[in-house]
Amino acid sequence: MESKNAAYIARAKEILAQMTLEEKVAQMVQVPYAMVGREEALRWAKLGAGSFLHVLGDDAREVQQAACSTRLGIPVIFGIDAVRGHALNDHATVFPTQLACACTWDREIAREMGRVTAREVATDGLHWTFSPLLCLSRDTRWGRVNETFGEDPYLTGELAAAIIEGYQGDSLDDEESILACAKHYYAYGEAVGARDACDSEITYRKAREVFLPPFKKAVDAGCASFMTAYGSIDGTPLTIDRHSLKDILRDEMGFEGFVVTDWDNMSSLVKQQFVAEDTDEAARLAAEAGNDMIMTSVAFYDSAVKLVREGRLDEAVIDEAVLHILTIKAKMGLFEHPEKKGRPGCFGCAEHMDAALRTAQRSITLLRNDGVLPIAPSCKKIAVIGANADDVRAQYGDWTYFTHPLPDPDHVPVRPYTTIREGVEELAKAKGASCVYARGCGPIASDEDDLPSAVEAAKGADVIVYVVGDVVSQVGEGKDRADLSLSGRQTELFRQLRALNIPLVTVLCASKPLAMGDAAEQADAVVVAFNGGATGGKAVAQALFGEINPSGRLPISFPRHSGQVPVYYNQLPGWHKLVDKQKYCDLPETPLYVFGEGLSYTDFAYENMTFDPQTMKASVQVSNTGARAGLETVQVYFRDLVSSVMTPVKNLIAYKQVELAPGETKTVEIKLERMDFALVNRREERVVEPGEFMLMVGHSSKDADLLTVKFAL
Ligand code: GLC
Repeated sequence: MESKNAAYIARAKEILAQMTLEEKVAQMVQVPYAMVGREEALRWAKLGAGSFLHVLGDDAREVQQAACSTRLGIPVIFGIDAVRGHALNDHATVFPTQLACACTWDREIAREMGRVTAREVATDGLHWTFSPLLCLSRDTRWGRVNETFGEDPYLTGELAAAIIEGYQGDSLDDEESILACAKHYYAYGEAVGARDACDSEITYRKAREVFLPPFKKAVDAGCASFMTAYGSIDGTPLTIDRHSLKDILRDEMGFEGFVVTDWDNMSSLVKQQFVAEDTDEAARLAAEAGNDMIMTSVAFYDSAVKLVREGRLDEAVIDEAVLHILTIKAKMGLFEHPEKKGRPGCFGCAEHMDAALRTAQRSITLLRNDGVLPIAPSCKKIAVIGANADDVRAQYGDWTYFTHPLPDPDHVPVRPYTTIREGVEELAKAKGASCVYARGCGPIASDEDDLPSAVEAAKGADVIVYVVGDVVSQVGEGKDRADLSLSGRQTELFRQLRALNIPLVTVLCASKPLAMGDAAEQADAVVVAFNGGATGGKAVAQALFGEINPSGRLPISFPRHSGQVPVYYNQLPGWHKLVDKQKYCDLPETPLYVFGEGLSYTDFAYENMTFDPQTMKASVQVSNTGARAGLETVQVYFRDLVSSVMTPVKNLIAYKQVELAPGETKTVEIKLERMDFALVNRREERVVEPGEFMLMVGHSSKDADLLTVKFAL
C-alpha cells in the first residue's frame, strides 16, 4: 500500500542522512521539563532532544529557540496531557472528563471537545496531546476510570476516532491542529486486581477480541502517535513486546505514526518489571521492540549511543525510530513553523465555554426518578447538601491545573466555573425559590464534618439535593480503590436526610461509578454527573430544574458492591446460578445500573424491529410517548448463539441518536456490516462463523429494554 506519508518520508530521509548517531538518538529522547528544570532542559535542547513534555508558553518558546539553533535545527515537539480540554493551563476551558463525555454517546460532541482542546493547546505554542485514552474500564477499582470512554470497545473506538479527528483536524499542519496520541497501548485498565501497571492476564486472542479494536479505529482515524502502556500482557511488558508494537500495530493495523513509551517505561523494565539487567539492556529491548520515542528515561541516550558503537544495537533500529518521528514532524509542517499559533485570545472564550456546557449537559445521566424531578415550580425551598456540591476541585477531577504536572491543591481556582451549589442557587433565585446550602460532610472524613447542621438546614425544604462522590486524592494513577462504597460519612448523612421524609435527589459528582448503596437505592432520584468540568454545576442545575431534558446513557456499569467487580455487561455466559439466579450467595449478580441505561423526562417506546441479513439493514420504530421532546440513543447489540469459542451474551455493534417531539414516531434504520458479527477464534482470526445469531435493539443493554430477532448467516 502506497504510504500516505510518501512525501514526508522522503523529506525525513533527507534529514536523517545528515544526522550523526548522537543527533539521531537524541531525537528519540523526550525530556520532562517540570522534573529536570530550565537549565538542564536547555542543555537537552542544544543536544538535539526530539521532544519535551509538560512545558507551557514562554518556557516552551525558549526551548524551541535553543533546539532550532542546533546544527540541523530540528524543532522539538511539545507534548502535554490535554485530556479534557487544555486543563493543565488554568486559563483554558476545562471540559468534563472523557468518561462524562462518553455518557453523551455523541461522536460530534467528542469531535468538538477535541477541536476546542486542540485550538487552546496550539494557542499555547504546543503540538501534541497525550489523548485519547482508549483503555477499557472493566474493573472500576482502577484509579483512572475517569480518563476512559467506559467499558465497551465499540463505543470507545467510535468516540476515540471522533476526538482524534477533532484534535488533528483536516491536516496536521493546520494552525489549530495538534497530534493525537492513542494510549495506553494496550489493556492497561485490565491489570490484575485493577492495580495500576500490573500484569493483564489476557491472551493475544482476548486482546484481538476486546482491547485492540478501539486502537484499530484510532489508526484508521489517522492518529499520529501511540503510547506504550506501563503494564504487561501475560508476563511480557508492552515496552518489549515487538509482536504488539510491530507485527500487530504496524504490519497488521497499518499504523504509520510514531510510538512513545509511557513515563519511564524503559527504566521500569529494570526497576519494576525485572526483565532487564541494567539500563543498557533496557534501552536495547525498548528500541528493538519498536518504541520510537522514550518518555523521561533520559539515560536512554548514553546507553543507545554506546550500544550502537559497540555493535550491540543495530543503527538501523535507531534510523527506523527517528524516521517515524521526523516523518510526523514533516507532516505537521514543524520545519516551516516550529511554533503553533492557534487562535490568540480563545482560552475560555464564549464559543469554547458553550462547547464545554453542551458536553456537560449531554453527559447528565438520570438513573432514577420517582417523580421528584424536574423540581416543580411549587418547590420554594431547596436544600443543597454535601461537600462535592461546592468543591470545584472535586467537580473537575483529574488532569487539571490542580493535579498536574505536580499536585497543587493550593492553586487558586480560576473563573469561570460553576459549582452545583452555585448553579442551583442561580436557577432557584430565577424561579423565586430559596436555596440553602450545608456542607455536611465530604468523601474524606474531616474536622469540618457537621452532619447535625446539614440535617437542620435541610428541615423544611421542599426538596433536598444531596451531592456525593470522590475527591482527587482518591483518583488517578496509582490511586486504585478496593472499596468503592461512598467514603467518609456520606452514607450516614444520606440516611439522616432520608429520615426527614423530604423528596431526596442524589447527585453523583465523582470520577467513576461508586457503589452508592442506600444513597441510590433509597433515593427518590439519582443523577450522575461524574466530573463535569467548569460548566458542570450549571448543567446539573439545568437538568434538576428541567431546563434541559437529561439524555445521557451509561458507558459503564455500576456495581452494587466492590466485591462484584468486574460487572461489565458484555460478559461470557456462565452457570451454576444459585437460588433466584443469583451468582453470589450474598448479592444479586446484576449490577446496580447497566451499560446503556439512562432515563429522560419523557418516555420512549420501541416496536416493529426488523433485520434483513441480506441487506444487513436493521429498522425499528421509536416513539416519544411522553409530554416533552427528548433525545433517544437507539442501541444495537448482537449475540452469536453457537460459536467455536464462547462469546459474550451481548455486544454493542451500532447505535444511533434520534430527537423526538412529544407523540412523534420515527423509523430508525441502521446499516450493519457482516463483519460486525465476527468473533476471534482460537487461531486469532477474526471471522464470522455460519450459524444462528440474535440481534437486539432498544433503549439499554437490559434484556427487558431490547427487541430481538433471530437470523442465520
Ligand atoms: C503519565 C500517564 C500518561 C501521561 C504521561 C505523561 O504517567 O500514564 O497517561 O500521558 O505520563 O504525563
